[in-house]
Amino acid sequence: MGRRIDVVAGAQFGSEGKGMVAGELARHRSDLLSIRVGGPNAGHCVIDETGRKWAFRALPVATVLNDGPIAIGPGSEIDLEVLREEVKETMEAGHRTLYRLFIDPEATIIEPHHRNVEAHLAHGTTGKGIGAARAERLLRQAKRWGDAVSVSPELERHTGYTEDLIEEHEQVLIEGTQGFGLGSHAGFYPYCTSGDCRVIDFVAQAGVPWYFTQYVRPILVARTHPIRIAGNSGPLYGETTWAELRLPDEYTTVTKKVRRVGEWDSALVRRAVQANGGPQVELVLTMLDHEFPEISGHYDVTLYEDPMDYVRQIEDEIGYEVSAVGTGPRHLVPLRRQRF
Ligand code: GTP
Ligand code: MG
Repeated sequence: MGRRIDVVAGAQFGSEGKGMVAGELARHRSDLLSIRVGGPNAGHCVIDETGRKWAFRALPVATVLNDGPIAIGPGSEIDLEVLREEVKETMEAGHRTLYRLFIDPEATIIEPHHRNVEAHLAHGTTGKGIGAARAERLLRQAKRWGDAVSVSPELERHTGYTEDLIEEHEQVLIEGTQGFGLGSHAGFYPYCTSGDCRVIDFVAQAGVPWYFTQYVRPILVARTHPIRIAGNSGPLYGETTWAELRLPDEYTTVTKKVRRVGEWDSALVRRAVQANGGPQVELVLTMLDHEFPEISGHYDVTLYEDPMDYVRQIEDEIGYEVSAVGTGPRHLVPLRRQRF
């Protein structure tokens, strides 16, 4: 296999299952360099080999799925407490986290006062301080990981420019966060997050050198019923309820409130595909088992008529092919190829 940089992005408003998709791409692949971008408002869920479920807010999901290098990119925001906790828990579970972790010195540090600022915003926010930290960074007041290292030199060995790491590793996986519709220029402003959430944004946040962008494979994840966080979080097409859908209430990984849920929105996903690479996009449709419980945890989806009709209808509506579907929290099923 030649050089490849897989970039996982969301097509809707987050929680599309990017953690699951990144996890299945990373499982058992210790040759892979995994880079997490974004901040701790995102919780990426994966299930490890022992069946334990993890929700990562700082570290890449690969931390518990392979033994390859893991990194946090320069355009990320780090909550040191969250990071420390994840390092501790993963080390206790037997993973060599500290020996494989590299944090870019340019990553921004979230401080307690950033969280307080966001608590007073009128628009739905997860209140984790990322927007406030980004604002301070624009004003040249925020602290960076590199500043923390200059105070505590023992952190030096966990520090590295992701740009250099990317040059050294042929196989790279970048774990984007949130979703296209949450982007601050995606059309839902001010019901949006503090940045854009496309592959091109994550590529920049991860520090990919420009001449390597030719190796990027955009992987876009969409779920059958998109969600938005609870509260005043903006428009949601065909808003419905979990009871109406006969699904259990879904809670936000990080804030633990019941999420809002809507109907599948082809127009939004079509825009997301176009913004993330058009025909080059590998589109993954997760949670197909929510629509068709009979395929839950199955890998032989193409044998089922109704789910396949549903997928084909979606393809017709958006004008792009679906590459793979999700049928469970660790079930990524390629539709057109042996491997995804
Ligand atoms: P953010 O970056 O926070 O937006 O998160 P994310 O896109 O990584 O989503 P998250 O990991 O929070 O996933 C949502 C939930 O769906 C998790 O509990 C996953 O385990 C679960 N999940 C992912 N894919 C599937 C699937 O195909 N079927 C089912 N039933 N569950 C899934
Ligand atoms: Mg999540």
